[in-house]
Amino acid sequence: MADHVPRLSGRSENIVESSRLGPFAVQPVGLGAMQLTGPGAFGPPRDRHEAIRLLRVAVDIGVDHIDTAQYYGPDVANQLIRDALHPYPPGLILVSKVGARRDSRGGVLTWDEPAQLCQGIEDNLRSLGVDHLPVVNLRLMRSTPPDALFDDQLAAMIAARDEGLIQGIGLSNVTAAHLLHAVQETDLACVQNAYHLGNRRSQPVLDECTRRGIAFVPFAPLASGSLAHNSGSDDSPVGIVARRLGCTRAQIAIAWTLALSPHTLVIPGTSSTAHLRENVAATTISLDADALAQLAET
Ligand SMILES: NC(=O)c1ccc[n+]([C@@H]2O[C@H](COP(=O)([O-])OP(=O)(O)OC[C@H]3O[C@@H](n4cnc5c(N)ncnc54)[C@H](OP(=O)(O)O)[C@@H]3O)[C@@H](O)[C@H]2O)c1
Repeated sequence: MADHVPRLSGRSENIVESSRLGPFAVQPVGLGAMQLTGPGAFGPPRDRHEAIRLLRVAVDIGVDHIDTAQYYGPDVANQLIRDALHPYPPGLILVSKVGARRDSRGGVLTWDEPAQLCQGIEDNLRSLGVDHLPVVNLRLMRSTPPDALFDDQLAAMIAARDEGLIQGIGLSNVTAAHLLHAVQETDLACVQNAYHLGNRRSQPVLDECTRRGIAFVPFAPLASGSLAHNSGSDDSPVGIVARRLGCTRAQIAIAWTLALSPHTLVIPGTSSTAHLRENVAATTISLDADALAQLAET
């Protein structure tokens, strides 16, 4: 990855003020709810009480953006959010996604025909106990270029917005070609692709989002935890920078992501209230030029 130094066009000093998520103002660090379910995003959590507590602490410390999906569980993440936070405080932006569903053994099924997307939106509204959602991502499950199905999927999302079921449309797991195609049809609130220090394949998508002022919300910003795990003998760039700046590896990964662009938001997933607090505190970390150069070697 050393040859691919990301363009740092945004927050050279990390920020604590709000960022844009489509029409909404949110804090740069949100919460990914996928880790609140059982293992593999299937079934109930080991400690339901702790999951509920975490969601309430999140809102108490200023988290105003929670990423979820009806198919996390299924219904588990949404039900926990509902039990913990409904009626939702003003300004809390719940973002969900459609395009997949779970079978009874936890397998992930593609569920992306237009009628299935509409059903997916309805399932999210039901399980979250709302009549509309701020943002829903169209999560692509197939690796096909923009095609007739993609047009039909976009049309279904636009129709849902026209009906008032969703306020903003996002895309997830897309290429720059999908993004450029979609913006000819509709405004987008966000793009949610995999992207972190060890996987920058979505750089063209991030660049396009930055150019267009669309929020880029990388999923798995901690590489599903591997960037965050602390180890005393860690001589990786993330470990070295974390030690020098006196913070954790997770905080470095989050601060780096936020420094990429003024349009980047993060939604680290956690089942730990201590980790949640740590992740939110990453907004106070400023990465200097030496740190950014070292992290480029990741
Ligand atoms: N659009 C999509 O297709 C898609 C796909 C995947 C995920 N997502 C969304 O993106 C969110 C984030 O992705 P993710 O949860 O898969 O991966 P992630 O945020 O990269 O990593 C989550 C892992 O990191 C650990 N972790 C979190 N904070 C930590 C800290 N401060 N110190 C040490 N470990 C820490 C968590 O363990 P602990 O529980 O122990 O903290 C968990 O194992 C998800 O929750 C979900 O909402 C979307």
